[in-house]
Amino acid sequence: MLAVILLLIISTSCAFAQPIDQDLFDDLHPDVGLNVVELIQRYKYPVESHGNIKTEDGYLLEMQRIPYGLKSGPAENKPVVFLMHGIICSAADWVNMGPEKSLAFLLADLGYDVWMGNARGTTWSRKHISLDPVEDKADFWEFSWNEIGEYDLPAMIDYVLSYTRQENLYYIGHSQGTTSFYVMCSEKPAYNNKIRVMVALAPIAYMENMENPLLRFLAAFDDTLEFLAKLIGIHEFLPNTEFLGSIGKVFCKDGAIFQEVCAGVIFLIGGFDSEQLNRTMIPVIMTNTPAGAATRQFLHYAQEINSGEFRKYDFGLIQNLIKYGSVSPPSYNIDKITAKVALFYAKNDWLAATVDVDKFAKQLPNMVYQYLIPFDKFNHLDFLWAIDVIPLAYNYVFDLLRQY
Ligand SMILES: *[C@@H]1O[C@H](CO)[C@@H](O)[C@H](O)[C@H]1NC(C)=O
Repeated sequence: MLAVILLLIISTSCAFAQPIDQDLFDDLHPDVGLNVVELIQRYKYPVESHGNIKTEDGYLLEMQRIPYGLKSGPAENKPVVFLMHGIICSAADWVNMGPEKSLAFLLADLGYDVWMGNARGTTWSRKHISLDPVEDKADFWEFSWNEIGEYDLPAMIDYVLSYTRQENLYYIGHSQGTTSFYVMCSEKPAYNNKIRVMVALAPIAYMENMENPLLRFLAAFDDTLEFLAKLIGIHEFLPNTEFLGSIGKVFCKDGAIFQEVCAGVIFLIGGFDSEQLNRTMIPVIMTNTPAGAATRQFLHYAQEINSGEFRKYDFGLIQNLIKYGSVSPPSYNIDKITAKVALFYAKNDWLAATVDVDKFAKQLPNMVYQYLIPFDKFNHLDFLWAIDVIPLAYNYVFDLLRQY
């Protein structure tokens, strides 16, 4: 045992004794290290940043926009598509596979005006009129996806519609980008009329049957976890750091012996071996993802796993009585989601179980389309990064947008 440890120490110190030469960073994809704006610029697409979009509760959000594509060119009054990312993701996840594969580029080339949201707390939206994410962390991070749906989405949608002088837009959400949409439409029903059609990729409302073993394990301790997180002062989860980016570069690049471990971590989130993850792109993904989230976003999902309900955050008996006037949190009013909704889901999705999606689909008042990806191993994150995402999913999304 000791010998093994010794050997390990010697070999690692040897590795580090050599100057960390270029070797480590060789054969990297040229997009590694680029943020969302730089990525778009590198492919010569036009890009705009729109910052300081203020929510009702004082968060300042930033969006990125690709106003037109290389194959479509500029024009007046292009139809707007609003893209909303999932938990710990950000706008970058709509572009990081490049112009041939990523939804934001593809839509821009098809003639849409593409706007990408960034939820509070993620890389581009860590700002508030009075709270600092580090100094005032207990207050800044006091939100779940409920607030993203109730405040962030309305603020961004209002901004986009007023800036483009349009009446309505197409909304495409992934994962938490669908949950928060449902929250918005049930809590602020006036927004239903601003949506031409909503495309839900890997939709999440009910979570009772989700299969992710890690989340299920954590959910078993949700009360303890909240207590612990508060106790040690963890309010933020998985922020974007140089450190993770470097791990991506060194350990996950082509030829690195740990690349399969990196792939495994991604599969552990979304569903095991989908055969659709392009390993070469892992360091590009890891440049901007994870992008940060509040612990409460995870806890709120953990509560859904345990309760089987789609309802507001459970603060515990006393706080619930004060906030909601009831012992348990109230359920979201699904009847009020009157916008047209199209559901795209997959069998190997470890977070959005098909049974849960089907249950929700039955309750949605205005579901216009329900599409199960015809590839059994397709998983949660494949909706963003799969090798065959265009023939398997996006072509049907494009058809839908044309139709409505
Ligand atoms: C994986 O990504 C690399 C780099 O972008 C690309 O050259 C390769 O064709 C991709 N592989 C597949 C199977 O799409």
